Amino acid sequence: MFFDLSDKQKMIRSKAREFAKSEVGPTAAQRDEEERFDRGLFDKMGELGLTGIPWPERYGGIGADYVSYVMAVEELSRVCASTGVMLSVHTSLVGWCLYTYGTEEQKRKILRPIAQGKKLGAYSLTESSSGSDAKAMRTTATRDGSWYILNGNKIFVTNGGEAEIYLVFAITGAEQRSKGYSAFIIERGTEGFTFGKKEKKLGIRSSPTLELIFDNCRVSKGNLLGEEGEGFKIAMSALDGGRCGIAAQALGIAQGTLDTVIAFANDRKEFGKPLGHRQAIAFKIADMATKIEAARLLTYQAAWRESIGLPYGKEAAIAKLFSSDTAMQITMDALQIFGEYGNTKAYPVERFMRDAKVTQIYEGTNEIQRLVISRMVLAD
Ligand code: CAA
Repeated sequence: MFFDLSDKQKMIRSKAREFAKSEVGPTAAQRDEEERFDRGLFDKMGELGLTGIPWPERYGGIGADYVSYVMAVEELSRVCASTGVMLSVHTSLVGWCLYTYGTEEQKRKILRPIAQGKKLGAYSLTESSSGSDAKAMRTTATRDGSWYILNGNKIFVTNGGEAEIYLVFAITGAEQRSKGYSAFIIERGTEGFTFGKKEKKLGIRSSPTLELIFDNCRVSKGNLLGEEGEGFKIAMSALDGGRCGIAAQALGIAQGTLDTVIAFANDRKEFGKPLGHRQAIAFKIADMATKIEAARLLTYQAAWRESIGLPYGKEAAIAKLFSSDTAMQITMDALQIFGEYGNTKAYPVERFMRDAKVTQIYEGTNEIQRLVISRMVLAD
């Protein structure tokens, strides 16, 4: 077993860390307050090569691995979880699907600008009738010669409105069995495709979450990703990698919280000594550091398995479950350590706590992670 990082992995992590510290962190609180997405940050991430970390150079990426990618999401989320999820959805849901299931033409035309950071991606599976039960979707794509006509609504779409490329899952078969769904690549601006409500949220407020509306939206057969009927498999397999990304986002939130707690515990004096010298606080910090280390090992392990072609669905679900529960617990404990300050916007802990909550919910609730894990463990 070898736990050290390669020079390339270290270089990507320090690039992401430096960018997060100098460009993302300073505006995170204000963007959260204003619920404002900053496209400029995505553009700069493209210039730095962070928007296509795992994809080969011929498709606009930098040819690194999934561990490097999750480390980048972790570093961004350490200061701003909204920026972390933007990169996560863009890479592990959209880029991954295009790289894995796309034709050569789709990779050159669609994946390349995605990887270069010239176009932003969004993934849309959820509907008002289908959250955890993804098969219960109602959006249809009806075949009309060499065209498909889409009708229906998608909700809770991360990067919605801002993205240029949307992966959309719809029913193409008569019965809602797993072979009755297909995946489509739909560009913003396509006739019949508009945006609905923008959600007002508790957390990740500078990441836009929108509704998509398809009203007789006509797309050609060339917009189909994979084969007709392969959509459910595409959606599910993408979520395996997506869960590595959300595990990394939660890990970053937890680490960012611990960074803030350490600075506070060293600075603030109570009863004549720094707060961190009190055993009750020091032991809380020890517990936080321990859980974070465990979350990091689980997350990197799942990403490493993806990189070397081993199955990683169970490991990704375990990492997502553990990291998100860790982030929630640590942010709540941190708030308590900060006392009344924690309840104000003087420190980022209240934002970290609000941001942590959704990591237990999206890309499959933690109850769905337990379902996925238990099915695999029992089958083993
Ligand atoms: N990879 C490939 N194929 C898979 C798969 C995977 N990980 N998981 C399932 N499949 C295949 C199965 O092999 C099966 O194929 P066959 O019918 O050919 O045998 C088919 O898919 C159906 O699988 P199941 O029988 O397991 O389906 P199910 O309906 O019992 O359960 C579920 C599926 C796990 C509950 C699934 O619906 C699920 O993951 N739900 C959660 C949805 C979710 O995570 N949504 C997140 C939205 S995106 C998001 O949140 C992004 C964001 O905003 C940040």
